[in-house]
Amino acid sequence: MRYVVAITGCSGVRYGVRLLEELEGDKELVVSDMGRRVLEHETDISSDDLNALADDVYDDHDLFAPPASGTHVIDAMIVCPCSQSTMAKLAAGVSDSLLTRAASVCLKEHRKLILVPRETPLNTIMLENELRLARAGAIILPASPAFYQEPRSVEMLIDFVIGKILDQLGQEHDLFKRWE
Ligand SMILES: Cc1cc2nc3c(=O)[nH]c(=O)nc-3n(C[C@H](O)[C@H](O)[C@H](O)COP(=O)(O)O)c2cc1C
Repeated sequence: MRYVVAITGCSGVRYGVRLLEELEGDKELVVSDMGRRVLEHETDISSDDLNALADDVYDDHDLFAPPASGTHVIDAMIVCPCSQSTMAKLAAGVSDSLLTRAASVCLKEHRKLILVPRETPLNTIMLENELRLARAGAIILPASPAFYQEPRSVEMLIDFVIGKILDQLGQEHDLFKRWE
């Protein structure tokens, strides 16, 4: 399986890091400029350490890179976390960066696109953007961990969200206990 994993400038870039750690298959990474800045601000993970978790790393400004084309076949793209700015661009069909172009390609090729927003509260513009994208075929998977797992650490909260993403991709995992 081949995936594009994208990280935008959202609080919670650790979700994206954890996804890269757990996701099996070929991973192509695209990080927005703000994604790199928030990574530096919120974590002690360097840009190089992040890149090392992927098989290929593409510059978000490089629209000549493979994920910009529909002929470059991938199984799914996950934008985790997905900022409301990127969400708005995608909802409007703007594809002026590799990240937004690759996501737009996913929609036009009817490939799986998982968007993981982390924002609260949401205004009506944000809600309408998410609805528009869901109607266009994207999966809106908010970074919204459950508490019935009785989490005892931040890592457990993160793993719940990553487990939900892996469920969407059909990858088996034991990141959370299933409801019996
Ligand atoms: C420290 C920090 C945290 C942020 N957290 C969020 C967030 O959780 N959700 C969000 O939608 N935007 C958040 N933003 C705003 C985005 O970074 C901003 O809208 C940016 O333009 C997004 O660009 P990108 O989508 O290209 O990464 C945050 C900004 C900063 C500086």
